[in-house]
Amino acid sequence: MASRSSALAALNVVALLVLCGLPATTEAHTQFGAYNKTCPQAEEIVFKEMTAILAKSPDLAGPVLRLFSVDCLLGGCEGSILLNSTANNTAEKDAPLNKGLRGYDVVDSIKAKLEVACPGVVSCSDVLALAARDSVRITEGPYIPIPTGRQDGNRSSAADVAPNSPKPGATVTDLIALFARFNLTAKDLAVLSGAHTIGRAHCSAFSPRLYNFNGSSNASSDPTLDANYTATLRGQCKAGDLATLVDLDPSSGTTFDLGYYRDVAASKGLLSTDAALLLDADTRAYVLRQANATANQEFFADFAVSFVNMSKIGVLTHHKGEIRRQCSVVNPPSAHSSAPMTTMSAHAVLLATSLISVLALALLL
Ligand code: HEM
Ligand SMILES: *[C@@H]1O[C@H](CO)[C@@H](O)[C@H](O)[C@H]1NC(C)=O
Ligand SMILES: *[C@@H]1O[C@H](CO)[C@@H](O)[C@H](O)[C@H]1NC(C)=O
Ligand SMILES: *[C@@H]1O[C@H](CO)[C@@H](O)[C@H](O)[C@H]1NC(C)=O
Ligand SMILES: *[C@@H]1O[C@H](CO)[C@@H](O)[C@H](O)[C@H]1NC(C)=O
Ligand SMILES: *[C@@H]1O[C@H](CO)[C@@H](O)[C@H](O)[C@H]1NC(C)=O
Ligand SMILES: *[C@@H]1O[C@H](CO)[C@@H](O)[C@H](O)[C@H]1NC(C)=O
Ligand SMILES: *[C@@H]1O[C@H](CO)[C@@H](O)[C@H](O)[C@H]1NC(C)=O
Ligand SMILES: *[C@@H]1O[C@H](CO)[C@@H](O)[C@H](O)[C@H]1NC(C)=O
Ligand SMILES: *[C@@H]1O[C@H](CO)[C@@H](O)[C@H](O)[C@H]1NC(C)=O
Ligand SMILES: *[C@@H]1O[C@H](CO)[C@@H](O)[C@H](O)[C@H]1NC(C)=O
Repeated sequence: MASRSSALAALNVVALLVLCGLPATTEAHTQFGAYNKTCPQAEEIVFKEMTAILAKSPDLAGPVLRLFSVDCLLGGCEGSILLNSTANNTAEKDAPLNKGLRGYDVVDSIKAKLEVACPGVVSCSDVLALAARDSVRITEGPYIPIPTGRQDGNRSSAADVAPNSPKPGATVTDLIALFARFNLTAKDLAVLSGAHTIGRAHCSAFSPRLYNFNGSSNASSDPTLDANYTATLRGQCKAGDLATLVDLDPSSGTTFDLGYYRDVAASKGLLSTDAALLLDADTRAYVLRQANATANQEFFADFAVSFVNMSKIGVLTHHKGEIRRQCSVVNPPSAHSSAPMTTMSAHAVLLATSLISVLALALLL
């Protein structure tokens, strides 16, 4: 009798342990180290890949960082920017405002490595978040620990883009209002705009400042843009050239530093939305303080806080999204049954097996 009940007790303990294991994987929020158990090498794999990719092509740091910010600001950090259009849906990436986005293949190649190491475990939205923070780290910016556990969304509509994106001519009031929709402040705007210390913009993004600014003469340019810088930019972007890429921070375009704030303070902010930061008291004060700073610690610490806040916008938790196999397409409906076992289904099977054994044993005894 005693051995029977202890065998039963042991099985019950197994079942209980399995049950207790479930809440850990159904955690409703992002958390630091969400892949500690399911894919402990995930963050290291992303960092190694990004290091290798940027060693070959340093210019890809900017595109990856921007991809992440656009994803988060467009309905949440759920990887919707990565989805391709389909026969019956035009995706966010194909909206006119997003045509300049680059770096999709960087995300795809990192995801491919993760699918080899831990199939079906790491979401595309987390790959993008980790790759973006590594862009900052590898360009000599701060290392930013970020929570993970985002899941991927299945909606991506070009129609969502224009109403939810900063317009090319947006005023600082527009930008502050846009950020406020995500509970981000004017300070977050000033801090996150500091990302423009790396990367490049197409001539199309700022040539309206260089030519025909007053609508009646091609010789007119934006009077708030430094005259010498205007001349330099006209050399780089001839009238009508929309495609050439120009450094956002000409003094140090591949280094994450205070250069952006020095540019903006000196009337050399490339985009009108950069220059606009001088037109609001809070954002202006931040720009001028960082332009004058002798060390980057304050900006780096601020950037880390604002970046983590941005990285939490609209995240999908365990119940709401999926772990895409390929970042550019939603999983096919059949993926669930034909896919290698996920953590969740592994748990479910274990649990079912334990319960069946308990029942079977109880009947036998
Ligand atoms: C509210 C504000 C923002 C506006 C209006 C804005 C606008 C732009 C524009 C127009 C470009 C040039 C795109 C092109 O011509 O290809 C650009 C590039 C970039 N943006 Fe922003 N941005 C904003 C916020 C952010 C944030 C929050 C981040 C990241 C934290 C970011 C990171 C970047 C980077 C890294 C690039 C360079 C991309 C490349 O090298 O391809 N931006 N941004
Ligand atoms: C993962 O490990 C790190 C480092 O030990 C720890 O800080 C973090 O809380 C862990 N996360 C989870 C979800 O276990
Ligand atoms: C998504 O679109 C890109 C660019 O057109 C293409 O290279 C990629 O193969 C597409 N993804 C899939 C899974 O078809
Ligand atoms: C879109 O087309 C796919 C096949 O390409 C189909 O499976 C899906 O049901 C369609 N969705 C809608 C909303 O029409
Ligand atoms: C902003 O904060 C309010 C109050 O805390 C909250 O109800 C709302 O969901 C938040 N919005 C976003 C987009 O996070
Ligand atoms: C941003 O993060 C800081 C520090 O974690 C927090 O105190 C603050 O409330 C966050 N702000 C928003 C808008 O989420
Ligand atoms: C401005 O320059 C463009 C391209 O060179 C030219 O086609 C256009 O006629 C010019 N417009 C004016 C008002 O000079
Ligand atoms: C536009 O700018 C040109 C060149 O700077 C100037 O000659 C002209 O008077 C301006 N026209 C208007 C309407 O401001
Ligand atoms: C523009 O360049 C000229 C010649 O290099 C220089 O004398 C002048 O001070 C510069 N102006 C500004 C506003 O930087
Ligand atoms: C930088 O600091 C100096 C001295 O405190 C001040 O005169 C100057 O206006 C400041 N410049 C900016 C851009 O804030
Ligand atoms: C997309 O995700 C939503 C929310 O999780 C879900 O209700 C819906 O069934 C999904 N649609 C498809 C086609 O997978």
